[in-house]
Amino acid sequence: MENISNIDRIQMGQLIRFKAHMLDVATKTINIDIPARESDLEDLEQLLKEWDNRDYPEGPDIIWARQRIRSFSAIKHEDKKAIFIPPSGGSANISQDVFSVIKNRRTVRYWKKKSVPRDIIRRLIEAATYAPTAFNRMEWRFYVAETPPESMETGDASNPSMFAKAPVRIFVAADERLFFEKYSGSLDTGFALQNLILAAHALGLGTCLIYQGEFVDPELMEKYYNIPSYMKVYCAVTLGYPDEDPETPARMKVEEVTEFLGEVPNPDF
Ligand SMILES: Cc1cc2nc3c(=O)[nH]c(=O)nc-3n(C[C@H](O)[C@H](O)[C@H](O)COP(=O)(O)O)c2cc1C
Repeated sequence: MENISNIDRIQMGQLIRFKAHMLDVATKTINIDIPARESDLEDLEQLLKEWDNRDYPEGPDIIWARQRIRSFSAIKHEDKKAIFIPPSGGSANISQDVFSVIKNRRTVRYWKKKSVPRDIIRRLIEAATYAPTAFNRMEWRFYVAETPPESMETGDASNPSMFAKAPVRIFVAADERLFFEKYSGSLDTGFALQNLILAAHALGLGTCLIYQGEFVDPELMEKYYNIPSYMKVYCAVTLGYPDEDPETPARMKVEEVTEFLGEVPNPDF
């Protein structure tokens, strides 16, 4: 890890959450690269020590990060991973209240070997299409890849495994041929995806976003999925009926992420 003495509190918090996330996923992944994660563990310990030295406050996200050290250390060599199986029928009682849906949605990386009916997929995509888009362009396209039940595998929380075992993968792309702005495509697909994953949770389904962007080869997308190269694939989302009940990665406090600017005059932009 680079020298952390020059980074500020905001950057340090980001690094702590990132390293803790890597350990968290490792506790759910069977074939993890232990030396790489040991190095994340060392980094995280160093960062938390520096956090304490600087007397920074102990928010819920920092407490959560400290707990990841304990769970990773306890489980790293075990075959049995830290997956919390939901009680049967649990997803039937999900509150549809918007704040509950927002707070209770979790990234799900284990799904039952059960297909998702097309009419449900259509309902989720319809919810996505109600998201706002810059200039109302609605430039997104949703490419849905379904897995037959007999090919659904029991895997782990790594991205390749998730792609292989997810009942459904949806690639979300934006047609940017007519764009003059740089960021609308990523924002528009992001808003659409947020609608989609919240709607999925409200219907008892679980999702995991998998960033694509510059990681995907447009030529391969065209070859394998017939996605034209002008369609920029920003993200994929895997979808299915949850077979885990993940813990909530604790969030930062509102005061930590907010600056009320008060009654400041508007500059002439
Ligand atoms: C743009 C984006 C890309 C993500 N990519 C991945 C990914 O590649 N693999 C993964 O397991 N999770 C991925 N996630 C899920 C995050 O790890 C997850 O949202 C985060 O840990 C917080 O957990 P929560 O969604 O349960 O609140 C991604 C999330 C976002 C927003």
